[in-house]
This record gives sequence, structure tokens and C-alpha cells, in this order.
Amino acid sequence: MDRLRIYGGKPLEGEVNISGAKNAALPELCATLLSAEPLLLHNRPHLNDVRTMETLLSQMGVVIEHSNGSVTLRAQEIDWPLAPYELVKTMRASILALGPLLARCGEARVSMPGGCAIGLRPIDQHIKGLTAMGAEINLEHGYISAKARKLKGAHFTFDMPSVTGTENLMMAATLAEGVTVLERAAREPEIVDLALCLTAMGAKIRGAGTSRVEIEGVAALHGAEHRVMPDRIESGTFLVAAAATHGHVVLRDADPSLLKTVLDLLRQIGVTVDAGNDTIALRGNGHFQSFHITTAPYPGFPTDMQAQMMALATCADGVSTLTETIFESRMMHVQELKRLGADIKVEGNTAHVNGVKQLSGANVMATDLRASASLVIAGLMADGETVIDRIYHLDRGYEAIEKKLSKLGARIERISA
Ligand code: UD1
Repeated sequence: MDRLRIYGGKPLEGEVNISGAKNAALPELCATLLSAEPLLLHNRPHLNDVRTMETLLSQMGVVIEHSNGSVTLRAQEIDWPLAPYELVKTMRASILALGPLLARCGEARVSMPGGCAIGLRPIDQHIKGLTAMGAEINLEHGYISAKARKLKGAHFTFDMPSVTGTENLMMAATLAEGVTVLERAAREPEIVDLALCLTAMGAKIRGAGTSRVEIEGVAALHGAEHRVMPDRIESGTFLVAAAATHGHVVLRDADPSLLKTVLDLLRQIGVTVDAGNDTIALRGNGHFQSFHITTAPYPGFPTDMQAQMMALATCADGVSTLTETIFESRMMHVQELKRLGADIKVEGNTAHVNGVKQLSGANVMATDLRASASLVIAGLMADGETVIDRIYHLDRGYEAIEKKLSKLGARIERISA
């Protein structure tokens, strides 16, 4: 297993290009299952999760070609509407194949995702929604087996906003008979990007990005071209890394409008942030204030930025609090940050972080994707050498992170197994 070695203490300086968003690319790759014609996606991020999704789709019969950061997918025939355990266990987002397969083929078998490091993460909302649309769903031998000769439009209210749940039902509804209304839908920007992609394919969708999404089913979708939106979490991660090292970094190909809560908070703690159309510049000021965040569904503070913010809090002036409301076990990074000298107490779902003068490098273990990013940031802040083990989590969601950080002057290297 690869590891990362970081010698910390050097401010990040320079420009970095932001990649396409993982959480938009994954549902958009699945959208190809809805049409026999080709879907051309630009700004495809080079990530393990994207490669896993493409492997999954090609096993189903989708023909895939790459060229210069773009990918063309053609699901002319789907010969195997199945997402096997071997792939689903490495990537929960495989559940996104369920809605499109059911809508296009009338049947699907997708392995149950099971638990994962950050919590239980059930999929009951996906199942309830598809059942409301007329699907017959059985859970057997660890698989979700779904059948529906023709899905029917339905009025479905989520018990809580679910991002992939909203995406799954939105995709299924594009080919259903009649109108589907999704209430208490998630409002994340990746859902809006998926709706743009589906609309380019001929779907009729209103209200994506609000809590009420209306989809009028059509007989068939056609080929289309779409550019994957910039990754707001990768953007936020580089900004926090720049703030944490008192550096000066400019993000290119970013979208500041998607990061309002994060940018507001960074300004509030005392770093300078300038947003352009597709650029964000951050300049550290030598120190930063403590802060208080509570994660919430969009437009609230993103849970996917909580761990990175905790790394920043370890050296802030004063006591910060970070409350996690979306996932029950998303504090796995606390123990590892403590190994680097952080002063953190966890009470329930809130971490109280008492800022210290300096972290000191140590060996740590990455436990999940965003926890890994927080350890990289902490390693960049720390004095001396930090070695991060199990970085396969990072490769799932950050494109060439050590190369991008090296370009910004970080002393970071991959130690291959
Ligand atoms: C997506 C993102 C992930 C992000 C998360 C929250 C992708 C591929 N992943 O994950 O990066 O951290 O949104 O912003 O886009 N829930 C249920 N039943 C369900 C579905 C969800 O109880 O059927 C609960 C979950 O346990 C969690 C909350 O709802 O507590 C939100 O989860 P959800 O929005 O579904 O997360 P994902 O879509 O899996």
C-alpha cells in the first residue's frame, strides 16, 4: 500500500488547477445508462472512484473511450444490469446505477453498499423512492433486486435530504411514465450539474438545486455533451491547506459561487480571500482565529470539509468547535491529529479543538477520504516528517494530490509499496 511522506512547515505558494468534481462525475457517468446514444463528458477527473465507476459500466456493456481529459460512453446495449459486490464494496456511489438501470432495462441487481468508515449510511430512501415509482424491490443474498416493467411518476417526500438518493430518483424519473415530484430533495450543486447533463440528453427537469424537483418522464433520452463542474471540495481543501501553511495560492478553473460558506469562514478567521469568475486567491496572514462550524446539507457547511477544517483548527488562536450532523462516525481523524500533537476533545458529535502553537510530524493512518485530506494538511503544518499510511482513500477522490501540492512548493512524496 502506498504512503505519503511530508516534510511540513513550508507555506504553499503558486497556482493550482482544480479538477472536475468527483461527486458530479459519478452520477453523470451513470446517466449514460439512460440512453443508447453516446454521452461525451469533458473535464473528467482522473480518480480511482471514476475508474471504478467506468469499470462497473463497461462490465454492463457500456463502451468507453478516453481522449484528452474527456470520456465518451455509449450504452447501446446493456447486457448485464448488475453491480457486483467486488466493485460496490470499494465505492458506495455504485448505488447510482440502480435508478438508471431500472428505468432503462426494467430490472437491476446492485450489491448492498454495507457500512463504511464514516457511518452506517443506509439506502432506504433510494429504495422507498423507487418503490413509490412502482418498482418491486427485494433484498436477497446481499443484493438489491429491482424490477419494474415501466416506472411510474410519483410524489415522493424524502425523510431527510439525500444527495445520491435525489440523483438516483431524478435519473430514474427521466424515463418514467408521467410526472415525478421529489420533496425535501437535497440541493447540492452536483445535483444541479447532473440535471444540466440530463437536460442536455433531453430530460425535462425543473427545480434541481431546490428542495422540490419535478421531472416529467420522456420516452427516450438522446446523446449529449456536458462539462463536469469544478470540484468544490478539492477547491476547499487546497484553500484550507494554503491558509494552514500561511501561504498564497490561486485556484484556477474553480467556481467560488459554490463555496460561499467555506470562503466566508476563511475570511472570518482572518485570511484574505479574493474570488474572481473562475479563480479564488487566498493569502495567509501569519495566524488565524478559532471558529465554530456545524455541518449541514447544502447550502450549509459541507460535511466533506469538516475534517480539513479540523486540521486548520489545531493551530488556530483559541478554541474552535466543529459539530458533525450528517454522518455519525465522521471524527476518525481526531485520534490521528492527536498523534501530531493536536489538543482535541470530542463530546457527542462535537469536537473542541484547542489551538496549539505547532504540530509535530509523526506516522499516521488515513481512515477515509476527507480524513486523509485533513492529515495531509496537518502534515504540511507540522514540524518535521509525517508519513501517512493507507492513502488509497486519497486516490479515490483527489487527482494527483502530491503532484499538485509539490507544484505549490510542498515537500511531499509518494512512497510506493
Ligand atoms: C453524498 C456525497 C458525499 C457527502 C454526502 C453528504 C456522493 C457520491 N457522495 O453521499 O461525499 O459526504 O453526500 O453531503 O455524492 N441517509 C439515510 N438513508 C438513505 C440515504 C441517506 O438515512 O437512503 C442518511 C445518511 O446516513 C446521512 C444523510 O442521510 O446521514 C445524508 O446522506 P447522503 O446525502 O445520502 O450521502 P451520500 O449521497 O451517500
